Amino acid sequence: MNPRLDLLQPYPFEKLKALFAGIEPNGALRPISFGIGEPKHPTPRFIRDALAESLGGLANYPTTAGSEALRQCIAGWLERRYGLPRVDPASQVLPVTGSREALFAFAQTVVDGIRPGALVLCPNPFYQIYEGAALLAGATPVFANSDPSRNFAPAFDRIADDVWPRVQLVYVCSPGNPTGAVLSLEDWRQLFALSDRHGFVIASDECYSEIYFDEGKAPLGALEAAHRLGRGFERLVMFSSLSKRSNVPGLRSGFVAGDAALLGRFLLYRTYHGGAMNPAVQSASVAAWNDEAHVRENRAAYVAKFAEVTPMLAEVLDVALPDAGFYLWADVSRTGLSDTEFAARLYAEQHLTVLPGSYLARETDGINPGANRVRMALVATPEECREGAERIVAFCRGLTRRG
Ligand SMILES: Cc1ncc(COP(=O)(O)O)c(C=O)c1O
Repeated sequence: MNPRLDLLQPYPFEKLKALFAGIEPNGALRPISFGIGEPKHPTPRFIRDALAESLGGLANYPTTAGSEALRQCIAGWLERRYGLPRVDPASQVLPVTGSREALFAFAQTVVDGIRPGALVLCPNPFYQIYEGAALLAGATPVFANSDPSRNFAPAFDRIADDVWPRVQLVYVCSPGNPTGAVLSLEDWRQLFALSDRHGFVIASDECYSEIYFDEGKAPLGALEAAHRLGRGFERLVMFSSLSKRSNVPGLRSGFVAGDAALLGRFLLYRTYHGGAMNPAVQSASVAAWNDEAHVRENRAAYVAKFAEVTPMLAEVLDVALPDAGFYLWADVSRTGLSDTEFAARLYAEQHLTVLPGSYLARETDGINPGANRVRMALVATPEECREGAERIVAFCRGLTRRG
């Protein structure tokens, strides 16, 4: 057996299951979950139709690089979305079967786990795939705590000087899961300077990029930042996905774009890995990337839910509208409960699930940056989101009354 499998941490939902074990939730209330970050809005009809109409493609093996039509369509989307002058569909874009497998596989491609002391730097809190990818690539994950005073940007400036030369790969998540924070151009300038000095590769996970709250303020992307700062894409790739943008988490469709030399190596890795995308999924993906009307509609649904729920919750918790994404990252300190106590008691009394923030982070420099926070995904219907928020308000007010 690969001994590194034993280094993998239980997934946050396994920890939640253990936390809830033995708790009898309030049977008078229907269950509501703000726990899992899975999009729940309906899949647009035209995407389902495009998939069904392309089933003839199942008769052929797909190529690992994907069809030219899909790569061209993604390159065009990148140019429009990020104001990039020209993205080469042949060398700078690679379709992947969802960003999760690609974020994992990318570390297996770029990390030299044989080099002594190999490190992969992750944000903290973070999406757990980064940590598992680092461990199975033979590296040790290290963490940059998010800094609440700087809009939750990872505090790269607090990473010790002797750590940087061993860092081979840095994961960035912007918009962040769970914080929703979007890296600024200044954050990118600093990170690019560090990459130039130390030679590490940057993997920018941008799968929440299309869910934001002001139509005039689309989140800045990594490739866009590089372009605006007058750089090429050297040592930089970004990951995007249709799962959240187009409400198709089951389709398994995303892409990686950026540094052509890195993508060439990644394509080689993927030829063996076997990550080619189903031809029918490729056709449905072309239809989805070429349409923005459904994406605007989807955004509007989130905007309405956040506009209703955030002020309700702000009466009882420290919480604010994030830059982007579909999570609220609330500080529960005011209640006097820890994040796990809050989640367990809320589940027992209100039959409502939220995710303790400490499950999404690792203690680093004596701090777990998720402690005393909970993540709430507003993916359910507006009615359920409203009812869930009402229950949280009632729960917190009840705590105050009971002293
Ligand atoms: C931060 C982050 N990255 C990547 C993913 C993976 O998304 P997908 O594989 O559906 O593209 C998720 C899914 O929840 C996520 O939260």
